[in-house]
This record gives sequence, structure tokens and C-alpha cells, in this order.
Amino acid sequence: MSKNTPTPHISAAPEDFARTVLMPGDPLRAKFIAEQYLEKARLVNNVRGVQGYTGSYRGIPVSVMASGMGMPSIGIYSYELFHFYHVDNIIRVGTAGAYSPSVNVRDIVIAMGACSDSNFASQYGLPGTFAPIASYELMKTAIAKADEKDVRVHVGNCLSSDVFYSDNPSAVEKWSKMGVLCVEMEAAALYMNAARSGKNALGIFTISDSLVTGEATTSEERQTSFTNMMEIALETAVAMG
Ligand code: HPA
Repeated sequence: MSKNTPTPHISAAPEDFARTVLMPGDPLRAKFIAEQYLEKARLVNNVRGVQGYTGSYRGIPVSVMASGMGMPSIGIYSYELFHFYHVDNIIRVGTAGAYSPSVNVRDIVIAMGACSDSNFASQYGLPGTFAPIASYELMKTAIAKADEKDVRVHVGNCLSSDVFYSDNPSAVEKWSKMGVLCVEMEAAALYMNAARSGKNALGIFTISDSLVTGEATTSEERQTSFTNMMEIALETAVAMG
């Protein structure tokens, strides 16, 4: 396995990553999480400015590394972590836009499933469609941690889209009719890489904007939800040991 490290996109040694990696989209967010939440965090990757840190939370080793934006980007990083490092669990911690009138800005969504308008699954040559799902273990632990903290979360389907600026005005309503709660751009690829490698993945999102009402929040306004999301993710990581 170690002959594959460093990888084309990660300069770390195999033992540099913990079993569980938290994955925000933004490299500066990864730095912030490491500085704010992890003890003794050290930089383990900075290829292309995609910062990765390993430290500990409540005595348990935890890593945090950015995914970049979109399925190709998270596809690369999660593949390399799952296949070439000793990473068993990746928890995406990101933002999403609400697709459902029942989901408000600042809410937290745990993505049980991830629909997609992307072609990522075509590489598997399946004779049908694949349903990318979260790890049951990670998901049930995250829901239990949210319950313990009395934080209400939505649990359901998301859409992982290839397009932020969509030219299709009816898409929101169509996905919404199918019960899809929100849109982001990474979870489906992460879930497929986890499935293919026999590893575990989960997406937890704070809602930054609503495609139903047009409402949007600044990151300062989302601070409480961000803190709740991070604590749920970190406590889930700790429970995985
Ligand atoms: N679209 C895609 N990804 C997102 C959005 C959105 O509206 N908001 C936050 N992440």
C-alpha cells in the first residue's frame, strides 16, 4: 500500500492521517477547523493549497482535509484517502442550498442518500442506476450525537449537482417533488468511492441559502449551525475510535 504514497495529490506519509477525516470544501475552512477544534494539529498536506491536518479531539486522532468543490475534486481526494492511506471514515462537513420548503437557512441536514445529475457512476458500468447512500454506522451515530445535544437535524436525500449556476429553472421543483431536501456538489461521489472501497462516508450540511425562498445567510450568521455541525461530526469521529 505504501508504494502508492505520496499520491499525485497528497504529499503525506501513510501514517499521517487518522482513521477518520473530516472534509470541508474550503482549504481555509480546514485550517480553521484544525486550529479551532483539534489539539496538536500538524499540517500533513498542502499540495495545491489543499490543506490537511491531523491532531486529536478528546484524545482520539482526527484529521481534517479540504475536498475542493465538486464531484471530480472530492472524487480524487476521497479515493486517495480510502485506497492509499489508512482512512476508514470520511465525514463531509459543508454547506448546501435548500430545495424543500421544510428546510430553512441555518438548518442542519444529514444526507442519508445522494442523488446526482452527474455521470460519476458510469465508470462502474452497472446495468442500472446506483443509489449512493451514507454509512449507516456513521449516520446513526451522528443522529444520536445531535439528539444528545438537542440539535434538530433533517435526515434524508440530497442532490449532488455538477452545476452551481443551473440553466434549468424547473430542476429545483422536480427534485423537491421527489423529497430531495437540499443541493450541494460532492456527497454522491464521496458515497460512491466509499461503497467501491468498502469504507464509510457521511455528509452533514448547514443550509447556507434557499433555492425555494431565495434567502441566503452569511457565514457569520451560520456560526451556531456551523458549530453544531462540527461538534456532531467531531463526536461521531471520536465514537469511531
Ligand atoms: N448549489 C450547490 N451547492 C451549494 C449551494 C447551491 O445553491 N449552496 C451551498 N452549496
